[in-house]
Amino acid sequence: MKRIAILTAGGDTPALNATIYGAVERANALKIEVYGIIRGYAGLVDPRTPHVRLNPLFTTIPELDPCKGGTLLGASRTYVDPAESELLGQIGSRLKKLGIEGLICVGGDGTINGMQPLSEMLPCVLAPKTIDNDLGLNYLDEVHEWNEAGDRKELLTKPQREAIQLDEIINFATPGYATACFVVAQGMERIRTTAESHRRIAIVEVMGRDSGYIPLGSAYGQPDVILIPEVPLDMDRLERRIAELYDLQKHVVISIGEGIVDSTGHQLGAAHKSFDPAGNVVFSGAAEELKRMLVKRFGDEFFDSRRKHESGDSAIFTRKVGHTQRGGRPILFDRFYATQLGGKTVDLLHQGKNNVIAT
Ligand code: F6P
Repeated sequence: MKRIAILTAGGDTPALNATIYGAVERANALKIEVYGIIRGYAGLVDPRTPHVRLNPLFTTIPELDPCKGGTLLGASRTYVDPAESELLGQIGSRLKKLGIEGLICVGGDGTINGMQPLSEMLPCVLAPKTIDNDLGLNYLDEVHEWNEAGDRKELLTKPQREAIQLDEIINFATPGYATACFVVAQGMERIRTTAESHRRIAIVEVMGRDSGYIPLGSAYGQPDVILIPEVPLDMDRLERRIAELYDLQKHVVISIGEGIVDSTGHQLGAAHKSFDPAGNVVFSGAAEELKRMLVKRFGDEFFDSRRKHESGDSAIFTRKVGHTQRGGRPILFDRFYATQLGGKTVDLLHQGKNNVIAT
């Protein structure tokens, strides 16, 4: 094998450059040339997109800094539809013309889907990444059933799932997850001191889509309550717990996963929609919706009687940790782990493997 390509697809994580770095380092050792495809699958689809030679002289390029967040190559959420055979043919001949003998796709669930039609044309391997740590979870039958009203449409077929042994690998952490946990844990700790000073209830929304891994990881920042999408919200229990905690410590910190569902299985974040000036739908978000529900439940009396001289702010406030969970430098664990997995993808291609995940 003389030349391979690498692309980063889906939402970014802080550890993508580390994965690319690991792949290039290993490829250098094996004297394999690595081309970087710009903007994920979008770069494959659009023939005008240039590619980058990542190790033209078999040395690491200076811009490739494994400690830097984001991705040197850019990313997109474009996926190749297996039904578009003409487009696939064009991609295949372009890769062939470039002399690409194998492709490394750095990504999560969507990226594995996008990799399927390509893996019929050339050997492809996945370097896993997602801050949500939900790789493969969306393919478990029970989660799929639970998700049916949601947006998971691009499920793998059973043979595909078995071929890449997804069911066996769902329990390992994906690069990017540890950094996201580090960021949310810090957020929880910081929110606590201000909630404490002002005797308030803080509802902090964290990412993760339908998976509770990030909210669970926020436990390192010691929130008082963690609400995860896998467990439907029990408002009676939550109300009791908040009242107990408030009377005990005069403030409460709640960590809530953005995909949280109510007792009927509906996502809280999607409950109230409005429109922005451009006409796009804007959802209020899980934290905002929970605040609305709690204000209704507690009424004025509960907090008024306990926060007598504090009329300048509302007792309950919300914040989203937001994209800081995906941005910035990776923590050391992610950096080393992602680098190793990047190296493994090259080994897998070198060993002649196709449609597998580096673990
Ligand atoms: O999948 C990663 C993720 O950060 C989710 O946790 C989050 O719901 C989503 O991407 C946000 O996507 P976007 O950047 O398109 O808003």
